[in-house]
This record gives sequence, structure tokens and C-alpha cells, in this order.
Amino acid sequence: MTSPRRTFAIISHPDAGKTTLTEKLLVAGGAIHLAGEVKARGANRRARSDWMKIEQQRGISVTSSVMTFERDGITFNLLDTPGHEDFSEDTYRTLTAVDSAVMVIDAARGIEAQTRKLFEVCRLRSVPIITFVNKVDREGRPVFELLDEIADILALDVAPMSWPIGMGGEFEGVLDLETGGVSRPEGDSRNFQGRVDQDVTLSDRFAEEVELAQAGYAEFDGEAYRNGDLTPVYFGSALKDFGVAELIDALARHAPAPRPQPAEPAPIAPETPEVTGFVFKVQANMDPNHRDRIAFMRLCSGTFKRGMKLTPTGHGKPIAVHSPILFFAQNREVADEAFPGDIIGIPNHGTLRVGDTLSERADIRFTGLPNFAPEILRRVALKDPTKTKQLRKALDDMAEEGVTQVFYPEIGSNWIVGVVGQLQLEVLISRLEAEYKVAAGLEPAPFDTARWVTGEAADLKAFADVNRGAMAKDRDGNPVFLAKSAWEIGYVADRYPKVRFNATRER
Ligand code: G4P
Repeated sequence: MTSPRRTFAIISHPDAGKTTLTEKLLVAGGAIHLAGEVKARGANRRARSDWMKIEQQRGISVTSSVMTFERDGITFNLLDTPGHEDFSEDTYRTLTAVDSAVMVIDAARGIEAQTRKLFEVCRLRSVPIITFVNKVDREGRPVFELLDEIADILALDVAPMSWPIGMGGEFEGVLDLETGGVSRPEGDSRNFQGRVDQDVTLSDRFAEEVELAQAGYAEFDGEAYRNGDLTPVYFGSALKDFGVAELIDALARHAPAPRPQPAEPAPIAPETPEVTGFVFKVQANMDPNHRDRIAFMRLCSGTFKRGMKLTPTGHGKPIAVHSPILFFAQNREVADEAFPGDIIGIPNHGTLRVGDTLSERADIRFTGLPNFAPEILRRVALKDPTKTKQLRKALDDMAEEGVTQVFYPEIGSNWIVGVVGQLQLEVLISRLEAEYKVAAGLEPAPFDTARWVTGEAADLKAFADVNRGAMAKDRDGNPVFLAKSAWEIGYVADRYPKVRFNATRER
């Protein structure tokens, strides 16, 4: 028998405490013993790779990773998402590979821009969310205000599961609304541990607050939560390790086990006997001495065994997966077996791409891993014209990894790269130099955004003939319209009603 899986991600605005909470979760799960190791390990790993210097310089994580820990017989797979405001499609795609998410909010700040963006992505796929209001050891905003803000901005029912008795200097503990137990701080305010105290008489003020809360907010409803309509809210302090164990218990009790995944011709349930999965991320250069890439596959059904042959749907021959990698917190381990909900790293030489379905049967394809229309377009200016071939290879590679998108205009030789966030451009230039020895710069492009065009061949041709100067092909040869403005898209869409202008594209 395999243990139940909880595959989840933490979404938050920078500085809300995601890294701290991740550390504490891993410590609680026995995966690491010293808080702080996540960062230290990260720094070590980063130092090994040139292009990752950007991460160091800006103190952020560009890459996502996978951490696994166990507690009370349950295996938790935590997928890390970059938390910086400049995020890439990586973040979106990582969220396609989880069954639920924990949303961390700073008690003094409430819902912030990035939290909201990431939340919207979760909503697209009905990913259920547990909310953790962090930093109650510091002065925060009134609890009612925070709860109302979550409910209003995210249009969700909120069900408080616990209640902080004061915050900051007045913090006295957290009341568990289900059991009535209170965990209280021990020791001085800089170093306190929780302990549960069942017989607590609340002061009149808090007794009243709690009564109001229980009357005013929804009661927890497991089905509403799993449908993404309600979020249970917990309060705590990641830094002081307060409420973290309760959060893990909540994930164990309420978060969904691996869910059926959208696929064609029909969704794939985890009970399906054949092994199936999809690639949500490709990462190059984890080991700079090898040109290998690691494709991160989420296993959706079946029991994966090492050496198994899996076929990428739609292209290629079966590949034998001899050295799969499971990502444990301490190191990368070779996996013998993996189960639905697990993430497997598959080393390959560029055969596997983001969005690929891998399975023992060739007749299915997972859906919903789109490319997003870029919000920033730049022209790539090559400094040494003899390096055209290397540049093309590099741009193709990075488009495959999802670092940037690339568009080859039908007229002229000025290749264009497109990104969702500015940071991706820096990664691009830095990797071009470090890995491909290509010196290049970026210039403004005369375009603002891009749309994939689809429709009947004759209609597409009629459109393309008139707009030749704005037509390009993406990495896979799909026709793309490069628009000067959002207004222009509306204009051409009106004039060519039979052509569709798509803001996303699925492979
Ligand atoms: P992030 O990954 O979401 O960006 O946040 P991170 O965990 O790095 O936390 C951001 C800052 O907030 C850190 O302080 C961290 O120590 C602090 N923090 C996290 N959780 C809590 C909490 O529960 N209570 C309090 N009071 N602070 C918390 P920093 O000074 O910016 O970084 P550092 O130098 O301590 O690493």
C-alpha cells in the first residue's frame, strides 16, 4: 500500500513568509533538521550555476523546485513557485501540477498584488486553497478586516478555523475554533513555542469577538473548499513556528488527494491502471557539466517503476526512464517507484517539452498547459553576426524550456522574444552569454503583444497576405500576429471575424 499524497504549492506575495513557512513545514515533516537550510542549500546550489547569479543578485528564486516530506503516514509534495513580482509562465504551469494550494498572507498587509494574481490562476483550475495568515506575532490588521478583505477581493467564502487572541505585543495565543483548545506562547516574545491549553477562559472581549465570528462567517464545508468556493483560514507565525503543525494537519485532513486531470478525450482519474503524466517544467543546467535537461513530470495515474517505457503523445518513440529523480528536501534521490501526485524528474537531451503527455498508452493528451501571450516583446540584436546559428539554437532551447517565447517574423531577420515578466529577459541575456557564448542585446520591438491565429486555411491566408509585416512563426511553426497595441487586436478581430486571435496556445 502506498501512503496518501498531498501535492500542493504555496502562493504568496514576496515577503509574506513563504520561505520561512516552507522551512518550518520541512522541519515538521522531518525532512530537514535545521531551519535555515532551505536558504543555505539554495545559495549553495545557485553558486554552481552561472546564469543563476541573477537569483543571487536579486535575492529571488527564478527556478521552481520540488520538496517531499512525510508526516503521520502521508506524503506531502510541495512544489515551490517563484514569488517575485516578475514571474514567468513557470509559476502558472507549476500550479497546473498541484491539487491544492496554501495562500500565505501577511497579517499586516492582507491580500497583495501577487497573491491575487496567483489566486486567479488557482481559480482557473478550481485549485482549492487553505489560507494561512502569517506574522500574528507582530501587530497586524484587525482580524475581521482581514477576513472581509479575503472574502471581498477573492470572492470566496471564508471559514475561520482558528482565531488569534491578540497580535503583536498583545498576542496571547491562537484559539482552535473546532476543539476550543488554545495554543499559547511559551518563553519570551522572541522565542516561544506553542502548547495546547484546553481550559482557557477568554477575556470578555475575545469571547465576544469569537462569537461574532462564528455567527458571521461560513462554517467549514469540505465540499465547498474542494470545489474552490470556500477557504478555511488559519492564523499563525511561521517565524515562531506557531500554527505550522495545525496547517499540516489541515492539509492532511482536508486537502484533496490527487485529483482527476483534464485530458482528451476524457479526464484521467488517478485510479487509471496505466501510467500517465505530463511535463509542467523543463530545467536545464542543474549540473553545469552536463547539457542534460530535467523534465518535471507530474504523475497522474498508475504506479511508475524505474526503467519503464513511456511514450510522449504525438511525437517521438517510447523512452525508457532509467534514472528518474524524486526530489527530496535534502538531495535528489533515484526513485524506484512513484505514485499519482508525485513529481518525477526525467533527465533527457531536449526530447521532452513543457506540455508533453507521457504515458503507457498513446491515445490520451493532457490539456490546460498553455503558453501565454507575452506582455513584453523585444528584438534580439546579435553583436557578432557569425553567431546566427548558435543564437537560433539558444532561442529555440529556451522557448522549449519556457524561459521565453520566440517569434520568427516572416519578413526580415530580426528575431523577437516575448516574455510575461521583465526578469525573464535578464535570464535570457545572461544564459545566452554563459551557456551559448552568444553576445546579444535587446532592442525595443515595434510590437506590443502577440496573438496566435487560428481558423480555416483560406481565411488565415487572406489575413496573413494583408498583414505580412506583422506575421511571424513561433518555435513550433504556428502562425502568430504581432500587434502594435491591444487596440489593433480589436480592430483586426472586427475586420476578420473568421480568424481567431488567441491569447493562449496549447501544444
Ligand atoms: P517570502 O519567502 O515570502 O519572500 O518571505 P520570507 O520567508 O523570506 O520572509 C520575509 C521576512 O518576513 C523575513 O524577514 C522573515 O524572517 C519574516 N517573517 C516570516 N514569517 C514571519 C513571522 O511569522 N513573523 C515575523 N515577525 N516575521 C516573519 P527579513 O528580515 O526580511 O529576512 P531575514 O533576514 O530574517 O531572512
